[in-house]
Amino acid sequence: MLSLAALSVAACSASHPGPPGGPVGSAPAGARETRFVDSLLSTLTLEEELGQLTMSPAEGLQTGPTRPAGSAAQIRSGQVGSIIGIWGADRTHALQRIAVEESRHGIPILFSLDVIHGFRTVFPVPLAEAASFDPALAQSNARIAATEATANGITWTFAPMVDIARDPRWGRIVEGSGEEPYLGSVMAAARVRGFQDARLSDSASMLATAKHFAGYGASEGGRDYATAEISERTFWSTYLPPFRAAIDAGVGSVMPSFSAVNGSPPHASVWMLRDVLRGRLGFEGLVVSDWTGIMELVKHGVAATSGEAAQLAMRAGVDVDMSDGVYSDSLPAHARDNPELRSEIDAATRRVLRAKYELGLFSDPYHGASEARAARVTLTAATRAAARAAARESIVLLKNERATLPLSRDIKSLAVRGALAADAKSAMGSWTIVGQAREAVSVLDGLRRANPAMRVRYAAGAAPEAADTNEISEAEALARDADAVVLVLGESSDRTGEAESRAFLELPFAQLQLAQRVTRAARGKPIVVVLMNGRPLAIPWIADSVPAIVESWYLGSEHGNALADILFGAYSPSGKLPVTFPRATGQVPIYLAHTNTGRPHNPEDGYTSGYNDLPETPLFPYGFGLSYTTFRYGDVHLSSDRIRAGDSIGVSVAVTNTGARDADEVVQLYLRDDVASVARPVRQLARFQRVHLRAGATDTVSFMLGARDLSFYDLQMRRVVEPGGFTLFAGTNSAETKEARFVVVGDTLVLEPSTPRMQ
Ligand code: BGC
Repeated sequence: MLSLAALSVAACSASHPGPPGGPVGSAPAGARETRFVDSLLSTLTLEEELGQLTMSPAEGLQTGPTRPAGSAAQIRSGQVGSIIGIWGADRTHALQRIAVEESRHGIPILFSLDVIHGFRTVFPVPLAEAASFDPALAQSNARIAATEATANGITWTFAPMVDIARDPRWGRIVEGSGEEPYLGSVMAAARVRGFQDARLSDSASMLATAKHFAGYGASEGGRDYATAEISERTFWSTYLPPFRAAIDAGVGSVMPSFSAVNGSPPHASVWMLRDVLRGRLGFEGLVVSDWTGIMELVKHGVAATSGEAAQLAMRAGVDVDMSDGVYSDSLPAHARDNPELRSEIDAATRRVLRAKYELGLFSDPYHGASEARAARVTLTAATRAAARAAARESIVLLKNERATLPLSRDIKSLAVRGALAADAKSAMGSWTIVGQAREAVSVLDGLRRANPAMRVRYAAGAAPEAADTNEISEAEALARDADAVVLVLGESSDRTGEAESRAFLELPFAQLQLAQRVTRAARGKPIVVVLMNGRPLAIPWIADSVPAIVESWYLGSEHGNALADILFGAYSPSGKLPVTFPRATGQVPIYLAHTNTGRPHNPEDGYTSGYNDLPETPLFPYGFGLSYTTFRYGDVHLSSDRIRAGDSIGVSVAVTNTGARDADEVVQLYLRDDVASVARPVRQLARFQRVHLRAGATDTVSFMLGARDLSFYDLQMRRVVEPGGFTLFAGTNSAETKEARFVVVGDTLVLEPSTPRMQ
């Protein structure tokens, strides 16, 4: 067996045209690649093909109806195409060696892992990274993650998550780029480029996965996995754009969502995976099921047995069975006398082999991983410095009354309150598999290091989720004696992410008590609330009563250092909210790009849209974020006030740093189609640019908008640009803008025909 396998690898390598490369997602396969893959495929038995379509979970990862870990025997007999949850150069080498040297065909295995916001060096959680409004930063963070992960044997990550989320009760909002499709699209493409780079065969590149296709963020009531009811127009205009952007950037794989959309679970949806994903979006890469996503078709009630679930998923176009083992177990019996199913299995296997080919695994099954390389590139001074810079850009200053911040370097004693301050694990955020809490800098550590001469006195006072208020008195007393107070409030990171939905976005009682009593005790002193959270929180009392508020999310390995850079003024805050903050949970969903109503809110008219017990506005609007300096925006200039449908329009705005210190500003451009055949969003993000401005300096920021930016889905679900008026808004956040109008003239321009009918 050994010699046959070795021969097979040799044959593969010999016929190989040199290191292949390039993203696989939307690129047609080259002729050589097709010949290679087809000839290999023709030698596989049905069982071996299903082996290629089977991902095997590492020991300890099994839940529910999963198979045992990829054992040597299974790999040797060709039952395993990929493995999830094993990393480390030596560990992956040992298994890969069995695959390439001892299995009949010597086909290498893909090693997969959720490398979401860093591998060992942990970067800000994706929602925080989105707050940087800096796609180049997101790309370079993903590149570092890929460099570390591949050195440790990983060739496939299940990131980026590109789900638009407009309901902060949904815990997975932390994994994405927030509520706006444009920011979501730009970040999706940047992260894909970072993970995959120009050539997948590069040893520091790995396959990326755009997930969860599609509409997962609309799960009802913010309850994870719950059903989603989404109109066709909203599906195409809100939830699909980031997937389209990821595909255009060449993403190699896509993962369907758990949540049924309008009654149809994506793992069984021919419409979603074939008509939309492959047909309209042109995706040619791999579709990998989510964890137990195929078996869940039984619980959804669309399949009676696991065999039926497997057939439905295969027919819909799910290529790889992540954890269930149902493809291998039940498809052989159905496929033998069913040529249609058989050819779908062939197509899926071809896509798996193609991904392996693109990664160059037939030339180097180890993809350049080695313990030596891992030691060289993993968690180095340079990656830590990158994590710190990323963390600084992700922090959002929400309030700064009477210039409370930055804190003076002369402060002799600082009281730090709130259990999250000492919680290095939370600082890393959810989805950190390889990163270690002991390697992360907590808020407390960061503040202590920032100024060793300052006396830092810490008392938890209250834990984020516990109801106990007994320790508040001590925390209160200590705060009275200090020169300044930093109060760290929010939620533990393990209360965010998957299956961590919340019914209340308000701070729990003990934390609010702590905030109120400490604030009272330290009145008149600089008091700063630092939020650590993975979703917008409703904090009306804090917003009213505490002079300074800093949103720090979960910033990763360098959380505490980056926060100290902000609090003591080494860096001026520049992050902006990628998601709207509500005043109360009852306002949810509340988001920028809602469509107008026939009765937009008017405080003088009771019969207009709003609440009778709360203002209709958010606590903090989309794009909001203060700086230690101030910026003045000039008028918005357009290249023309009339364009034809299909033409582009230029927009420019001068921005001046009117304060005393150099700083970054994220210049934001919003769009409204004033009159169209369907109601359009009151404003939507259309462009942004992070600029660095020296004190007193002015920069003119220019943007170009084209037909795609002005388009929408009309009554026939065609993507069109209609003639009529448009308004553009430029400013420092979505609510403080200057505007200019232009008109599109001529006939309606159809960019895409009607979308395939939703099923
Ligand atoms: C999540 C996916 C993740 C997968 C593998 C699932 O529970 O929904 O996002 O990639 O697990 O860990």
